[in-house]
Amino acid sequence: MSHDDFPTEKPAVVTCGLPYANGDLHIGHLRTYISGDAYARSLEKLGQETAFVSGSDMHGTPVAVNAEKEGVSPEEFALEHHEKYAETFPRFGVEFDNYGHTHDETNTELTQEFVRSWIDEGHVFEKEIQVAWDPEADTPLPDRFVEGTCPYCGAKARGDECDEGCQRHLEPGEIEDPVSTITGNPAEYRTREHEFLRLSDFQEYLEGFIDRLEGTSNAQNQPREWIEGELQDLCITRDMDWGIDYPGEGKEDLVLYVWVDAPIEYVASTKQYTERVGEDVFDWEAVWKDGAPEAGAEGETDDATWAEADTGEIVHVIGRDIIQHHTVFWPSMLRGAGYNEPRAVMASGFVNLDGDAFSTSRNRAVWADDYLDEGFHPDLVRYYLTTTGGFQQDVDFSWEKFQERVNGELVGTLGNFAYRSLLFAARNYGGAPDADTSAEVAERIEEAVSEFEAAVNDYSLKNAGDAAVALAGFGNEYIQRNEPWNLTDDDPERAEQVIYDCVQIAKAVAVLSAPILPDKAQRLWEQLGEEESVHDADLDACLESPPGDFGEPDELFEQIEDERVEELNEKLQERVEAATEAADEDDDSEETDTVSDIEPVSDDRISFEEFQDLDVRVGEIEVAEPIEGADDLARLEVDIGVETRQIVAGIKQLHDLDELPGTKVVVVANLEQAELFGVESNGMVLAAGEDADLLTTHGDSVPGTKVK
Ligand code: MSP
Ligand code: ZN
Repeated sequence: MSHDDFPTEKPAVVTCGLPYANGDLHIGHLRTYISGDAYARSLEKLGQETAFVSGSDMHGTPVAVNAEKEGVSPEEFALEHHEKYAETFPRFGVEFDNYGHTHDETNTELTQEFVRSWIDEGHVFEKEIQVAWDPEADTPLPDRFVEGTCPYCGAKARGDECDEGCQRHLEPGEIEDPVSTITGNPAEYRTREHEFLRLSDFQEYLEGFIDRLEGTSNAQNQPREWIEGELQDLCITRDMDWGIDYPGEGKEDLVLYVWVDAPIEYVASTKQYTERVGEDVFDWEAVWKDGAPEAGAEGETDDATWAEADTGEIVHVIGRDIIQHHTVFWPSMLRGAGYNEPRAVMASGFVNLDGDAFSTSRNRAVWADDYLDEGFHPDLVRYYLTTTGGFQQDVDFSWEKFQERVNGELVGTLGNFAYRSLLFAARNYGGAPDADTSAEVAERIEEAVSEFEAAVNDYSLKNAGDAAVALAGFGNEYIQRNEPWNLTDDDPERAEQVIYDCVQIAKAVAVLSAPILPDKAQRLWEQLGEEESVHDADLDACLESPPGDFGEPDELFEQIEDERVEELNEKLQERVEAATEAADEDDDSEETDTVSDIEPVSDDRISFEEFQDLDVRVGEIEVAEPIEGADDLARLEVDIGVETRQIVAGIKQLHDLDELPGTKVVVVANLEQAELFGVESNGMVLAAGEDADLLTTHGDSVPGTKVK
């Protein structure tokens, strides 16, 4: 089934990938939210009834890991970030009709309802699997609690996603060489029973779905390989406390995998919107449910039946890293619970720095707050993010490029045209002169409107933005060519005509640019003497006559000077360098170092006698060699004066073992013996912190000297 062009009779929902409530927002995240907002506003311009919703992603290990580092409960931690996000979005003109979160009641209930439907329809089964386990902390290691190697592409990966490599979702137990991010120890595997959603039930359905799916081509093409291959079933439960309880019988210790309840928030958030404004204003079920085939229609997942079905006008705006979740898992989840499928997925490219991904933990990012603190107007970054390169293209954030786009198109074309036209009109006629739009200009405006409509139907924000800026460019050329300043005396009527045309063009530019530049367009609208909001004007307004009277305008945009860019570049460069150094220093603790957590000194004091119980001695390393199969452990032979001891130390990855012989160390000599990886350890070498910074002596005490 091919879809009708927008605007359609039915209401639409535009969603944005939910931000994990676990850190600060950066310009990369904003690409999703600004694009979603601009797209929802664009649909509304076309006259499409649209709800724009999202919410914070509160569950899962991304939140649990960071909360633990800060020593607060996941709920408190996530709520704090949720509130911060809800405040930040409007500062970028991102105005959701509803912004909820996944831990609220609406989502909890709806999620459990979805899962119960899958269970009732026989899509869920139980299986014993091997899950990663931290032997020292004696705890399961779901998702981001474990790191290792991607079995598909060999890149360094997180427990549930190959974030730096092939971007695949990884199932529990799949990651190779697993290491616990809690203790840094190699993880072990234990057998646990988990619940699975049988994705293979939806294989045929997905094959049809992906052909119907609109949006960006990456979202249509990337999943084909997965859908047409053997579909791996999705483990939907986790051994964790933080999350939504699995609603099935006898499984009270399991919570649902975060990727189960997260997308359901798209539905829950729309539902909350309806609950707030009333069904007659917006009916969530009309989008998500009406016309969907019954959940029970399994076995008959007949494409023909489905294709005839009345599907929802659902548009998901996301970054390219979560395509698989939105084009394979999510449609199956919806289908399995009797909900409508999405009409389109718009997956943006990434925003990078110097060719590499942003890194939250390394402060290698342009932060949303910092951008505003620099005093830049939000519409500038909205323009930059929605119209630089194609939507699917990765962009390297650069202040030069930002300056080029702002000074070139916003200041030079759009701002310049609006200012010179309205100033001329205000000074000479006190507003729009008395005339009608010429045929040439009316035609050009109609052309811009058609370009805009086509762009929205092509899911191309860049083309939508270009339609507005190109029209302003035409305006500049039109005023230049007709030289109204030379006509006011000789041919006043012609001068009036030209200026009226320009005012009309300015009005159309305001309407067409409003989705991308919501605040600047509103200001232009007000400069034209319009009283209502530009956001309530539809495309027909482009050719409706302007009100008439208005005063002298202000300039809409300000030039960004070269010195400013240099200064910003320096700041950014310093940050990137600091981040790179930090990365070189601890290459294997990605994401685990967001919080600098110096532990407080313990309140419990020990007596001097107790201290004296410790036999601490100076030693000298004689031999240092890796222990086969253990990621971190090294076998040391240490001369402690009275004898040479074999000691196992977790320092393998942190030191060049070849360089250690001859190094003085401090050894606890009377520690009880232990066996690590089958190797006997007889004492402990003291080292500071995560980096296992070895303690040594300042002077030249000989091995065996007691430390007091
Ligand atoms: N919580 C999940 C999404 C669940 S959707 C049901 C998630 N959260 S996130 O905080 O990591 O990302 C939020 C959004 O920002 C996603 O759309 C993601 O693709 C996008 N981006 C995050 N970093 C980005 C860049 N550096 N560049 C572009 N988009 C990026 O994923
Ligand atoms: Zn991979």
